[in-house]
Amino acid sequence: SILILDFGSQYSHLITRRCRELGVYCEMLPCTQKMADLTWKPKGIILSGSPYSVYASDAPHVDPAFFEAGVPTLGICYGLQETATVFGGKVEPHTHKEYGSAFITVEKTGKPHADALFGSIDFGKEGLQVWMSHGDQLSELPPNFVTLAHTPTSPWTAIAHESRPIYGVQFHPEVTHSPKGKEVIGAFVNDICGIKGGWSMETFIPKEIKRIREICGDKGQVIGAVSGGVDSTVAAKIMHEAIGDRFHAIMVDNGVLRMDEASKVKKMLVEDLGVNLTVVDASDRFLDLLKGVEDPERKRKIIGNTFIEVFEEEAAKIEKECAADTARGPIEWLLQGTLYPDVIESISFKGPSATIKTHHNVGGLLDDMKLKLIEPLRELFKDEVRALGRLLNIPAHLVGRHPFPGPGLAIRILGEVTRDQVKILQAADEIYIEEIRKAGLYDAISQAFAALLPVRAVGVMGDARTYDQVIALRAVSTEDFMTADWFEFPPSVLKKISSRITNEVRGVNRVVYDITSKPPGTVEWL
Ligand code: XMP
Repeated sequence: SILILDFGSQYSHLITRRCRELGVYCEMLPCTQKMADLTWKPKGIILSGSPYSVYASDAPHVDPAFFEAGVPTLGICYGLQETATVFGGKVEPHTHKEYGSAFITVEKTGKPHADALFGSIDFGKEGLQVWMSHGDQLSELPPNFVTLAHTPTSPWTAIAHESRPIYGVQFHPEVTHSPKGKEVIGAFVNDICGIKGGWSMETFIPKEIKRIREICGDKGQVIGAVSGGVDSTVAAKIMHEAIGDRFHAIMVDNGVLRMDEASKVKKMLVEDLGVNLTVVDASDRFLDLLKGVEDPERKRKIIGNTFIEVFEEEAAKIEKECAADTARGPIEWLLQGTLYPDVIESISFKGPSATIKTHHNVGGLLDDMKLKLIEPLRELFKDEVRALGRLLNIPAHLVGRHPFPGPGLAIRILGEVTRDQVKILQAADEIYIEEIRKAGLYDAISQAFAALLPVRAVGVMGDARTYDQVIALRAVSTEDFMTADWFEFPPSVLKKISSRITNEVRGVNRVVYDITSKPPGTVEWL
């Protein structure tokens, strides 16, 4: 497989993405990784971009041993500059910074190994269209390197060692704005590194089931939380396929779920998918603790901590049952639906970054319960999880479901969370999502939800004056939830939604649509 050394570029994970699309397995590690500490032998190495300048005193550097392993290497942007620096070239800030689309002119070197990087790609008359994002550039080609491509302002926009499989490109082949970028990565991983595809979801399932069975042995029991979301459902289903009822799923009803969510999830997981599930109705406990609380971070903390308490209590009950049954072993494992982007988040190389909101997860469970983690989805991207879900016969409407935050409706009720406020929001949200589905827009939107504002507005109903609350509708499209745009609804759809909510939901007399992008807004209101 391919090793990606991450120097902290915002695009690093896209390199993984492109390799996967080519059916090639790859692993990303921080650039501080030492060759000698690697427990496996990569067939190719890709060095990512970086926000640093190679000549800066605090710049991260590659272990030069990676170039001596006899394995092909491809440096992208900073990766090219780092490669060139190691081999004696020079990098300097350039007066003409290149950001955005550019056309590069590919040159033939007459050396087959060097020409292989662009060899089979058909670029038009204007040259190869690529995406640039750099302020530094190569100002001196390292000795024993040849030029593969140039632009009017940069004589060495792609380079290769004259005899060894060492390459560098100044542009970003991993972003979709480089239309033939995937072919460049394909030429490197398939042709130069000699890795043929073969990684796919079909091959993933039996391999993962085998791995889970080996980890758990004949008696091992696994426990895990399910939420009704795609990730936990797919993780639960694959655990069930692997070890049947030795996987125990727990769903905690925290009182701030969507309308009838707990019973819908129960029906699907138990009746349709056969998963061994316990639903705990802890809504009173959560809502009691949320009384009088308006601060969003406190809401998150209360829900996160109480979730852990309830989950642990339920796990202890299941543990007792297992202990009474000699055919069962102790509960040793905790299932987590961690996805690859979360893994990247924890392994990538990054400078100081600020936490804007504390996202709730169940990580805290491990310390207390002495459970070991089992993470069947840790190698997968979201759309791969969806593909896996479809292969595991999980209903289509669930597989395509929008994300829903752990603290649920509590962060969509802007004031105090009470049972009445939850009911109002559930009803409005249900209508909103129903109408979006009816209009055939659900899949075009990344996330849609209603929020309940703690203000009252004047309205008129029949002859009477009303003084009721306001529902804010939010719908965004986004690739990765880091940035998002508000969704442009046809006005007729908004009209229908607004009319239904104000007519059918008691306590609401006004509906507004949120037209804020992220940034400066966030997706959620709290
Ligand atoms: P923001 O509001 O940060 O949302 O732009 C980005 C994505 O994260 C979800 N989100 C959360 N998910 N716990 C979660 O599990 C949280 O506390 C939380 N806050 C936001 C949000 O729904 C969106 O998908």
